[in-house]
Amino acid sequence: VTRSAPAGCFVVLEGPEGAGKSTLAAALAARLRAAGSEPVLVREPGGTAVGERVREAFLGGDHPLSAETELLLVTAARSDLVRAVIAPALAAGRLVLADRYELSTEAYQGAGRGLPLETVHRVNALATGGLRPHLTLVLDVPPELGARRQIESGKRRDRLDSESAEFHRRVAAHYLAARGDGVRHLDGTLPAAEVEAAAWEAIRGVAGKLSGHAAVT
Ligand SMILES: Nc1ncnc2c1ncn2[C@@H]1O[C@H](COP(=O)(O)OP(=O)(O)O)[C@@H](O)[C@H]1O
Ligand SMILES: [Mg+2]
Repeated sequence: VTRSAPAGCFVVLEGPEGAGKSTLAAALAARLRAAGSEPVLVREPGGTAVGERVREAFLGGDHPLSAETELLLVTAARSDLVRAVIAPALAAGRLVLADRYELSTEAYQGAGRGLPLETVHRVNALATGGLRPHLTLVLDVPPELGARRQIESGKRRDRLDSESAEFHRRVAAHYLAARGDGVRHLDGTLPAAEVEAAAWEAIRGVAGKLSGHAAVT
């Protein structure tokens, strides 16, 4: 794993439950394909055989997991995903679209569960080998709206969905405050088509500066 992606373009979608990440990922993938660029789509935790087993353990567990166990589970899955899928895809010049990455771990295990952010950063760095996204799109929605969308869509509630409203407020607040290299906030309360248009502009802006992504520009 190299520190910066040499060839491809690495785009991450972030935000609380029900923010619209999966919806946006599907829409962007369709747009990319129409533009002649086949994206590599991944979701966390998961995206590899090992990662999907971690996902099951993480979301479906039948006893409470400590914050530390959660941190190590999600980052173990990320470590496998980076090395087996993301880094090779970037090296091959592909556009990688990831549903969650490091910022999720800060928001959930850091702000949500209360682990020191310093610890989260160090374990994240180990898991990713320092591989950072070119662009992180954060979908901002009030946690109540995300929760309502999930209920309306009939999504099966997992271990995290069942957490307290206070937990979800801390997660959402961390997302809202997120700043940094390549971090862009989008208003996730807008209609899906408008969120998609704004995301597409942001991706074009970033991919246009990288070589080999003419299809997106
Ligand atoms: N911009 C939007 N406006 C209204 N509803 C949306 C929007 N984006 C997604 N949804 C709906 O909200 C629900 C949750 O969206 P989803 O993409 O699964 O969120 P996430 O993956 O972030 O948890 C789905 O039923 C989806 O159709
Ligand atoms: Mg989703």
